[in-house]
Amino acid sequence: MDPEFIHEHSMDLLGKFPSVASKIFGDIEFNDRFSLDIGGSKWPFPVGLAAGLDKNAMAIDFFSRLPLGAVEVGTVTPKPQPGNDKPRLFRYVGEESLRNRMGFNNDGAETLLARIENSNRNGRILGVNLGKNKITAPEKACDDYASLYKTFSKVADYLVVNVSSPNTPGLRDLQGEEEMNKIFDALKPLRDECPVPLYLKIAPDLSEEGIKSLIDISKNHKLAGLIATNTTIMEERGPGGISGKLLAQKSAKVRNQILEALRETPEIELIGVGGVSSSKELFEFWKNGGKAMQVYTAFIFQGPSLLHGIYRDIDKLIKRNNAQSLNQLLSDREAIDWT
Ligand SMILES: Cc1cc2nc3c(=O)[nH]c(=O)nc-3n(C[C@H](O)[C@H](O)[C@H](O)COP(=O)(O)O)c2cc1C
Repeated sequence: MDPEFIHEHSMDLLGKFPSVASKIFGDIEFNDRFSLDIGGSKWPFPVGLAAGLDKNAMAIDFFSRLPLGAVEVGTVTPKPQPGNDKPRLFRYVGEESLRNRMGFNNDGAETLLARIENSNRNGRILGVNLGKNKITAPEKACDDYASLYKTFSKVADYLVVNVSSPNTPGLRDLQGEEEMNKIFDALKPLRDECPVPLYLKIAPDLSEEGIKSLIDISKNHKLAGLIATNTTIMEERGPGGISGKLLAQKSAKVRNQILEALRETPEIELIGVGGVSSSKELFEFWKNGGKAMQVYTAFIFQGPSLLHGIYRDIDKLIKRNNAQSLNQLLSDREAIDWT
């Protein structure tokens, strides 16, 4: 069956029957044991859902019953848009990877806002990922981000400026210094009026210089942090962005460069994403100084058991190290027994 058809219908069903997760897997009660302070918000669990899976905020109630600390919906654009022609989502089953060229298909800001307002987050953090409409000229992109900030700062725990999807023509060019400054300058008065932690989501295909420049931009504009990474381009596979295991190495390299650069800047957070398919990638991220990660593709292949497995592995790690909490465990990383 067509992967997008399955995805759309699953979202619809899970939106209608959110308690199916706890019926099958049992209820997950977080206490402070698993919580971490991420970019100024308290995440009850250090793994979140990456943008694009619940693009249209159809199933927040379902995802908020899984071992997830945060659910990021979107990318949402100001006006609804259909996205690229189908087929636009492809599975590489043996490689646990996906290729997509969706093009920000979504129901638009007004509809997403209403769904978010009617959702039950069950104590989870809610992020909203923001993008520009395809028909908006690049020089007007800042107007789209400003209007979205205004709409969603009322309801979100954090917001994300997404300029890293490979599927909207010219979008990744907005990662240039001048374009970024223009966008964040336009957001400044809105952020002063209604402050919400703001992240920038970046591509894995940037040069080292490009990454350095975006780190400086996030410092200068006092962002909560960066989200790294979005999907990668592999021309030999065809148009679109690759995610999952095929992305893992490239994504980890970018994350490590950022973690290294942020060692002296703890006020800038890095949320890691790209190729996380078990607790192994999360623990590696922790070893290198990171805190929270997101998942997408591995969830498509493994389902909720991916998250329950990570939950159990974290629980064991805390116990093995005789720590009371994850927070305490990560306060002295050199001393951790990872075996
Ligand atoms: C089908 C699909 C749609 C996606 N849509 C979005 C999106 O709308 N906005 C966004 O920021 N990232 C989007 N992503 C990227 C993911 O959020 C994530 O950054 C990327 O897939 C790497 O993580 P993974 O290897 O765990 O999938 C999408 C990914 C996939 C596979």
